[in-house]
Amino acid sequence: MTLIFAHRGSAGTHPENTMDAFLEAERVGADGIELDVQLTKDGEVVVIHDETVDRTTNGKGYIKDSHLKDLRKLHANYTFKKKLFNKHKIPTLIEVFDWMKNNSLVCNIELKNSIMDYEGMEEKVITMINDYGYSDRIIISSFNHYSIVACSRLDPMIEIAPLYSTGLYMPWVYAQSLGAKGIHPNKKVASDEIITESIRNGICVRPYTVNKAHQMKRLFNLGCSAIVTDYPEKAIKIRTEL
Ligand code: G3P
Ligand code: MG
Repeated sequence: MTLIFAHRGSAGTHPENTMDAFLEAERVGADGIELDVQLTKDGEVVVIHDETVDRTTNGKGYIKDSHLKDLRKLHANYTFKKKLFNKHKIPTLIEVFDWMKNNSLVCNIELKNSIMDYEGMEEKVITMINDYGYSDRIIISSFNHYSIVACSRLDPMIEIAPLYSTGLYMPWVYAQSLGAKGIHPNKKVASDEIITESIRNGICVRPYTVNKAHQMKRLFNLGCSAIVTDYPEKAIKIRTEL
């Protein structure tokens, strides 16, 4: 069965990368969540997609230049889609990990270190995963493939997967060269042939960001291991009706 991972929580219906979005993913019965992490100036791992707070909060500036205590004063997406949600703080990865103690969701952590060079990010994230005993329920992905290999060297038990959005040639061979058991392609480059050949070669395929019903159906029928979607409730309904 294809698993359903809620992209940035349930970003289609709730403020992305907030606890509200993760709770919604749990409520609708998603199999996992996908979230993005960046590093603050004081070295804390925070859950936010962009390198700056400008788009998703009422603040301005780079995460790398801000201390956690200041970031926590901001409102994260408090007027999302013109609906007023509760005041959200930017979550820390620890906050999400604490919440995960009460459920069995898989967590796909995307390291956002392909634009910023966050020194020591891999060590911090892996140490945290080990402290919580979560090695078997985490998948680490990134567009920075050096970084996921570094994670795998720190803890070979943790699954890694390269993210990509261009026409990578024989991605299943590439994944094997990284020591990855899966690939996370943009749906636009996840052709039938690539998916079929990857699966035939023992590589899991988890395309993102899959929001339309016909795309979901195609990927379910091809046997993808998971899809990453902004609309987990919709995806679950479609999967049930197959
Ligand atoms: O992990 C899949 C997806 O999240 C990658 O793109 O920009 O939404 O983080 P983005
Ligand atoms: Mg992401």
